[in-house]
Amino acid sequence: MYKQILRPLAFCLDGERVHHIMMWWASRLLRCSVIRALFRSLYGRRKGEVERDVMGLHFHGLVGFAAGFDKGGELADRLEAVGYAFMEVGTITPLPQPGNPKKRIFRLVKDRALINRMGFNSEGIEVVTERLKRRKQRAIPISGNLGKNTATPNEHAAKDYTLGLEKIYDYADFFVVNVSCPNVKDLRALQEENTLSPIIEALVDVRAKQAHYKPILLKLGADPTEEELSYTVKIALAKGIDGFVVSNTTTRRDGLQTPPEELATIGAGGLSGKPLHERALQAVRCVRKAAGAGIPIIGVGGIFSGADALAMLQAGASLIEVYTGVIYEGLALARKINKYLRQHEEEIPEW
Ligand SMILES: Cc1cc2nc3c(=O)[nH]c(=O)nc-3n(C[C@H](O)[C@H](O)[C@H](O)COP(=O)(O)O)c2cc1C
Repeated sequence: MYKQILRPLAFCLDGERVHHIMMWWASRLLRCSVIRALFRSLYGRRKGEVERDVMGLHFHGLVGFAAGFDKGGELADRLEAVGYAFMEVGTITPLPQPGNPKKRIFRLVKDRALINRMGFNSEGIEVVTERLKRRKQRAIPISGNLGKNTATPNEHAAKDYTLGLEKIYDYADFFVVNVSCPNVKDLRALQEENTLSPIIEALVDVRAKQAHYKPILLKLGADPTEEELSYTVKIALAKGIDGFVVSNTTTRRDGLQTPPEELATIGAGGLSGKPLHERALQAVRCVRKAAGAGIPIIGVGGIFSGADALAMLQAGASLIEVYTGVIYEGLALARKINKYLRQHEEEIPEW
């Protein structure tokens, strides 16, 4: 039904408008336990599906929803009903900010891709934390994906990240530090050692003051070279990072079917979806090699099918996330992937 009816209708409208409509309906429908039960019977997890314990947390499946979809924590646990085993909420900035001017999401239908330059539009950490505080059920692990305000200069970035972590610490199960978004000016420079180390040190200090240890992961892009990625991974682990989310969107545009004139009209932004998949796989392989066994890696980028998910797990991921795949394939993508992974369980490595 999604591909035949809903997607053609949705693709006639502006991408961000569709996103708001989807969020509005999903958050209201899935609030009702009867509707959740109905969805669960259609798309929820099934007995015997692949489960995993990673970072001291139990995941009832391997597929999560990537950051950027539920920036404000309005859905949080509720996507459990449609087969998602975890959810990244965010990116959340300390203060509310509008992000970049609209229009800022573009579909590249021929490439099964999106370009976005949202630029950390966020309601701010206070609002999102209050929302997470009110959640009644803790059905799946939730991560808080943290960013900095655009107005904060990079030399004060550590303060933004620690403020976010302090506020949200008790209300999420793990955290993701986003230093790899291409849509916030100079943010990616934070991946360099002299800026990254103080951020991680400050976050680890905040965690040390809490009653319970919770994992902090670093989200990396697919654009740095293998040497740069390996170097960042080693520094991050040495400073106390527990694992990685790989990868964020790419600024590259090579190999696309979309005509160059159309790309020029769209302009700057991060590319996600099918064309990112190979690069994300390569980045995950590289991060796994640098990190070694036992370090959690969440693999994300261009996963549209069970076979894509398996390739990501074989490249080195412990868990996987989807976003653009859902826009093209529908929310039932998690169900399809879970079914496929169950049938190929013996091919999934334990890292
Ligand atoms: C519209 C949109 C907004 C996004 N916003 C965020 C964000 O706020 N924080 C973040 O870490 N990643 C964000 N991402 C990146 C995704 O989490 C993911 O890393 C990337 O899209 C690759 O996965 P995909 O090809 O399955 O979409 C966003 C992606 C899209 C398409």
